[in-house]
Amino acid sequence: MSKYLHGFIPEEQQRLIDQAGILGSLIYPRIDFSDCNHLLEIGSGVGAQTAVLLKLFPDLHITCVDYSESQLEKARKNLEQYSTRVSFICQDAKQLQLPRKYDCVFICWALEHISEPVEVLKGMKKYLLPGAKIRITEVFNSSFFFFPVLPTLQQYYCAYNEFQVSLGGDPDVGAKLGNMLKEAGNTGIELSHGGFHLDQTNPDDLRKIITYWKELMKSGANAMIQAGVISKKEVISMENDLDQIAKDENAVFFYQFVQAKATL
Ligand SMILES: C[S@@+](CC[C@H](N)C(=O)[O-])C[C@H]1O[C@@H](n2cnc3c(N)ncnc32)[C@H](O)[C@@H]1O
Repeated sequence: MSKYLHGFIPEEQQRLIDQAGILGSLIYPRIDFSDCNHLLEIGSGVGAQTAVLLKLFPDLHITCVDYSESQLEKARKNLEQYSTRVSFICQDAKQLQLPRKYDCVFICWALEHISEPVEVLKGMKKYLLPGAKIRITEVFNSSFFFFPVLPTLQQYYCAYNEFQVSLGGDPDVGAKLGNMLKEAGNTGIELSHGGFHLDQTNPDDLRKIITYWKELMKSGANAMIQAGVISKKEVISMENDLDQIAKDENAVFFYQFVQAKATL
């Protein structure tokens, strides 16, 4: 099983909730489960996306699968008000053993942490009903562009991505979703991109996303410091660089994630 880049401390668990709020308007316009009843969410974390899905689709029952009991414990608390519509299973996504079949699957920011993620897509098939909807949102970290070019931020970002690879993850897994879904034997595969292209024409959003990005970058810091990949000083310099971009009159901040639709 791959080690987990972000860790399970309370600050990180809160970051996932904040992240779901900040990026929600970018993720959900292309996701519609209104004709579905039983959704399997793989790598559900603390239930941040689960809460959005339960609100958006009032007929949906969701089974949350995560391999961290600590994440699921937090998810149980976060989703207390939906207790009749949600259940939790602590399991490795590559060794699923589920009690029923589902008419839809949702995966968000989870395959990036799993080595050989195609095995997850293959393994989940036996728990899906014919015609089940598959909806995946994943990172494509090579798409990140920022201006002005600041070497410390650049170095930190490279170290962050290389560290994720060293843990068995893939920071560009989003770009590969089409091929992976095909290899897993799915049909109706469609890919699309979402994200941001920000500059000083929209300074409020630029600042908001840069603040979010800082938290995202810091979420890998503990593990990277422990592994001797970066120092505390470099974390502070990375934050300073991001503050500098937010103020720069020629600032550009661009990132695209990938969303995949498929059918069993
Ligand atoms: C970045 S979090 C995303 C959580 C949630 N999807 C969200 O968007 O808020 C990734 C989650 O995947 C879980 N995870 C990583 N590898 C896993 C595996 N092999 N099996 C099950 N869960 C896994 C982690 O425990 C973590 O909760």
